[in-house]
This record gives sequence, structure tokens and C-alpha cells, in this order.
Amino acid sequence: MDFMTWTNDLSVSVAVLDDDHKKLIGIINQLHYGIMAGHKREILGAVLGHLVDYARFHFAREEEFFLKADYLAAPTHKMEHESFISRISNLQARFKSAPAVMLDLELMSFLRNWLVTHIRGSDKKYGPCLNAHGIF
Ligand SMILES: [Fe+2]
Ligand SMILES: [Fe+2]
Repeated sequence: MDFMTWTNDLSVSVAVLDDDHKKLIGIINQLHYGIMAGHKREILGAVLGHLVDYARFHFAREEEFFLKADYLAAPTHKMEHESFISRISNLQARFKSAPAVMLDLELMSFLRNWLVTHIRGSDKKYGPCLNAHGIF
């Protein structure tokens, strides 16, 4: 069973951003399966690296839309993205140096909680503004 599932209630009303979120969830599931299957740290580290790269790419895409749509909440939203990058970078460094079940649990629950809370609490709020500027 997948660790996370994208459901319609997570939609932010912009197709390309929903696709990004599905892709992020897909990579988190891939990481989960790798951990469960006991894959080598180098392999898991590469999947985590891919996740961080894709998250950066996705945040940049959202922030570009914020500029196009003059989205007022952009500064606080960007701060949430930055805080994610700094927390995940810290976990990434620890992940490489210290293989541990507790760390895996901490990492996976952080990823799931952060993403769901951020999509529900912040991403969903930009939908109407972006839509009003022709971004669907
Ligand atoms: Fe997002
Ligand atoms: Fe966001």
C-alpha cells in the first residue's frame, strides 16, 4: 500500500501544480518502498536528492505564478518553501551520515505532514487568485 495518496480534495485548481504535487507524492512513495525493502543508503539518498530537486523546481514554478498573478500572500508562502528546504537539507545531511530507523520515521512523517499541511493550508489559497489571472 502506498504511503501517501493524492486525492481530489488536495486539488489547488491549477492542473500543472496538481501534477507536481502528484509527482512529489510519487517520489515520497518510492522512498517509502525503498526504505521498507531495505535498499542501500546510497540508493535511498539518491531518491531523496531527487525529491529535494523536484521540490525546488515545483516551488520555483509556484513562485513564478505568484509574480504573474500579483499574489499578495507570496512573501509568507515563499517563507514556508524556504523553511521546508532548510529542514529537508538538514535531514538529508543526517540521512547520509547516520542510517537509523528513527531517522527514517522522522523523515517520512515530516514529508507527509509537511506536504499535506502545506497543500491544504497554503497552496489551496492561491487557486482563486491564479485562476482569476488565467492560470488554470
Ligand atoms: Fe505546492
Ligand atoms: Fe507552495
